[in-house]
Amino acid sequence: MTSIALIMAMDEEASPIVKALSLEPKGYLCPPLPMCLYQGEWHGKQISLVVSGKCKRYGVDHIGPQGATVSALKTIEVLSPSIIINAGTAGGFVKAGAAIGDVYLSFPYVCFHDRRVALPGFDRYGVGEYTCMDTRELASKLNLKLGVITTGSSLDITDSDISIMNSYNGIVKEMEAAAIAWVAEMYQVPFMAIKSITDLVDTETPTEEEFLKNLSLASEKLSKEVIKLLGEV
Ligand code: ADE
Repeated sequence: MTSIALIMAMDEEASPIVKALSLEPKGYLCPPLPMCLYQGEWHGKQISLVVSGKCKRYGVDHIGPQGATVSALKTIEVLSPSIIINAGTAGGFVKAGAAIGDVYLSFPYVCFHDRRVALPGFDRYGVGEYTCMDTRELASKLNLKLGVITTGSSLDITDSDISIMNSYNGIVKEMEAAAIAWVAEMYQVPFMAIKSITDLVDTETPTEEEFLKNLSLASEKLSKEVIKLLGEV
């Protein structure tokens, strides 16, 4: 049976998918790590959803590349999925035609935008450029947008982030995809990301306000599109 792993950062992003697919909570993926596993069978496919879990110290979800890296590593070690899909929310850009609730598939790669290392070779290593599955047909079939997804450790954006993103036409800004793609590439597990837009980065509205206002709407939209996507992979 095809085994698909959905890797997600926040409980609030994941809960509409858990509900829609009636996934069963299985507890911690790999104690004492905080990642939580939900599983179920759906249309003949084994679906495992791994969320990063809560930080014991600060009581919030383990968002960002560190949690995502550990999550990807343990997901592959414990579950040996045939495909990894990183699903979540992201910031979009008006200049690229994005609107709140739009859903993007990664293509052709995902990159980092805040790892600046001005040393020969390490400069390109910092950016990454991890290849994703070819999602062009899926995007046109499901009527989803396509673009380079770009990963960093911060919700806000700096001028340096913008110039790095512009260097590879990054148009979907988030905090996990490239970290997961890096691990998936080492294990040769096919990878793609699907991201729903909560906020528009190149507007005057503070990102954190827009993110909180639209998180629930974008997560519901994400769930609908993830379910359609699972029918196609
Ligand atoms: N997740 C949702 N919106 C984001 C943004 N603007 N930057 C990083 N991660 C996000």
